[in-house]
Amino acid sequence: MNPTVDDLAQLGAELARWCDWDDPTARDALVDALVCDAQAALAVVDGQELAGPLGRRARAGGKVRIWSAACSSGQEPYSAAMTVLSVLPDAANLDLKILATDIDPNVVAEGRAGVYAETLLAGVPDDYRRRWTRDVAPGRVAMDDALKDIVSFKELNLIGEWPMKGRFDAIFCRNVAIYFDDATQSRLWSRFAPLLTPGGVLYIGHSERVNGPAAAELETTGVTAYRKPAPAPAGALP
Ligand SMILES: C[S@@+](CC[C@H](N)C(=O)[O-])C[C@H]1O[C@@H](n2cnc3c(N)ncnc32)[C@H](O)[C@@H]1O
Repeated sequence: MNPTVDDLAQLGAELARWCDWDDPTARDALVDALVCDAQAALAVVDGQELAGPLGRRARAGGKVRIWSAACSSGQEPYSAAMTVLSVLPDAANLDLKILATDIDPNVVAEGRAGVYAETLLAGVPDDYRRRWTRDVAPGRVAMDDALKDIVSFKELNLIGEWPMKGRFDAIFCRNVAIYFDDATQSRLWSRFAPLLTPGGVLYIGHSERVNGPAAAELETTGVTAYRKPAPAPAGALP
């Protein structure tokens, strides 16, 4: 039998009674139970293009920032870190950082720990596995410190306040906006747009589309990638 609106209202009231929102343990348990934690397989993100131009800037002393928003337990930021390190092995000595955030404190803690079931690494090329992972227990694999040195995990609710002030060269926000209503999605994209550097790219999920005012500010560079246009160099022909 499908639940009615009244059933759902009653469930909401039960949850509110069950969860004392001021008690962090109860609150975290509720958030953990409600949000979708896709144990996405580790795979190399479509970020090879990030490493070229961004790498040149980092080598020239510039700052490079990547944000994996709604990163779940960290597969995406570690994949991005492998991609970056494959091109820039000295990334730890450059001003290059990957911020990884999620609303769920449990997945953030898993990301920080950086230990995964071996089966999740099926999509990772063998040479990446040899270079940046090590077996820590039967069927368990840990991410190398070289990856951890450039990735920082924080809790962040995409619908709440964002503390960050600087801009990002790439923002990955995949497979979370799909759970928000149209107005919330539109607000989210409009908050990402000013946080992108000129030429910076927003990567979203295959089932998602940028809607609202941000659609006019970002140009599509593929089904799931949106670039913030960079101003034409001075003297360039129109
Ligand atoms: C389906 S997973 C996507 C994970 C990853 N981006 C991917 O594509 O594999 C959705 C993630 O969004 C997180 N999430 C849900 N609501 C959120 C919110 N309001 N702010 C931040 N993260 C949220 C969940 O905790 C979960 O880790």
